[in-house]
Amino acid sequence: MAADPQSPDYTIAVIGTGTMGRGIAQIAAAGGMRVKMFDAQAGAAASAQEFIARMINRAAEKGTISTDDGAAAIGRIEVVDAMDGLRLAHLVVEAIVEDLEVKRELFAGLEKIVAEDCILASNTSSLSVTAIAAACDKPGRVAGYHFFNPVPLLKLVEVIDGILTEPWVGDVLDKIARRCGHQPVRANDSPGFLVNHAGRGFYTEGLRIITEGICEARDVDDVLRDGGAGFRIGPFELMDVTGLDVSGVVMESIYRQFYEEPRFRPVALTRQRMSAGLYGRKTGRGWYAYEDNKKVAPPDRPVPDARPDAVWIDPAEPDGKAALAAFLAGKVTLDDGDKPGPRSICMVTPLGKDATTAALEAGIEPERTVAVDTLFGLDGQRTLMTTPVTDADVRDQAHGLMADDGVGVTVIHDSPGFIAQRVIATIVNIGCDIAQQRIATPADIDMAVRLGLAYPKGPIEFGDAVGPSRILAVLDAMHAFYRDPRYRPSPWLARRARLGVGLATGEG
Ligand code: NAI
Repeated sequence: MAADPQSPDYTIAVIGTGTMGRGIAQIAAAGGMRVKMFDAQAGAAASAQEFIARMINRAAEKGTISTDDGAAAIGRIEVVDAMDGLRLAHLVVEAIVEDLEVKRELFAGLEKIVAEDCILASNTSSLSVTAIAAACDKPGRVAGYHFFNPVPLLKLVEVIDGILTEPWVGDVLDKIARRCGHQPVRANDSPGFLVNHAGRGFYTEGLRIITEGICEARDVDDVLRDGGAGFRIGPFELMDVTGLDVSGVVMESIYRQFYEEPRFRPVALTRQRMSAGLYGRKTGRGWYAYEDNKKVAPPDRPVPDARPDAVWIDPAEPDGKAALAAFLAGKVTLDDGDKPGPRSICMVTPLGKDATTAALEAGIEPERTVAVDTLFGLDGQRTLMTTPVTDADVRDQAHGLMADDGVGVTVIHDSPGFIAQRVIATIVNIGCDIAQQRIATPADIDMAVRLGLAYPKGPIEFGDAVGPSRILAVLDAMHAFYRDPRYRPSPWLARRARLGVGLATGEG
């Protein structure tokens, strides 16, 4: 019988006391468990112990932990100078180098030291938990326990079941995580687990947009950050924070691990920029320039001082037309003829279609047509899109009109799904496919993405907020235009959209 995870004597061994190991040791001690720390490098565990004591004392000064509780937590940490000292551990968490052979060797060696029912957990972020477990006599007790940096602040931990992991192991890790004040999410072993898998859409679709010449990186960020989708930071800003040397490698690795799944396909430009050393903040230049570690704001774009005489709105998307008409009411003459009058500019509000397709389907002149993205509302940063033949005057009049209350307007070249529609649809589609593959439940996918990636909503929630049938319409239109399997809808999304049920609807 494995030890009770609520017991005051529950003992966690942490092997590897670098960036991650010391964080895990800190939260475990603060959560009331005994902690034994071991590091192969002489003196490393002791210096980690001092570091943790400083962190806890600082927390006590700030009042986030009482002085007594802080002192007790520090007192529960012990440094051992040989692996033998971990014999009585109930759970071992390893946070050593990210190398499969080294981790396999460590776990195989540990099995000779620890008790039969001791859980062996790996903090790996990119290796297969199943492959680590396979080195053990008892692979059923091995699981992934993926924390995020900095551990005490990022409250998420992914509990990963390898193919051979026994269910009780994840149940115990779940309880221990909660005891440490962390939020566990459960997932089956799969490349990127949840966070690094679900996070693919944001980067790769943003990159796809700019490599297609639709707009610049800053435009994608402006729309996703300041538009109605509500992200705190755009994908290019985020790549600059993480460093392209790191995110570029993860992008390529996940793509390869899923056998070139087109939904994760990176773009060639990333490799070029990595070769050029444009990593982001750390090198002073990435998608943005940095001075004294601060982003240099790109220059403002001028707003044309032009207005149309009248605007005709395509009725093909009734919700989009209604939103745009309500926004324009009182600002300009609305031409409500069946066909646009001779002095009107034409506005279309497509879902997933580009401005060219929308104009041709409406039977209106593409030279007079501008598309407006209404899917996430018109309160924040707005997106206008032209066909390749839209007159410059028409574009400028539409821009001047849409910007006349001082809210930012981003003008882009033709794109099925503008910017926000295609990025959100990609994120929702990938999230749905994670559920379809039974890697995790919709609730855990959403939790992982909200806490691990700080998106305003998880992918399943995002899909439900926009409407599954709308997301499906965006993907179907993109798929029809590009004929690229990247945009094929996940069966999970397609069925729920057709049935008219929420995307969190599970299966019996
Ligand atoms: P780190 O380099 O800061 O610390 C690793 C520690 O492990 C060092 O103190 C080293 O002396 C020790 N070590 C290496 N081999 C050992 C062995 N065979 N036995 C005992 N100790 C050994 O590394 P970091 O960043 O803490 O990463 C540790 C693990 O956590 C890796 O698997 C990494 O992929 C994973 N991870 C890292 C994250 C990060 O942001 N740094 C985030 C999530 C997971």
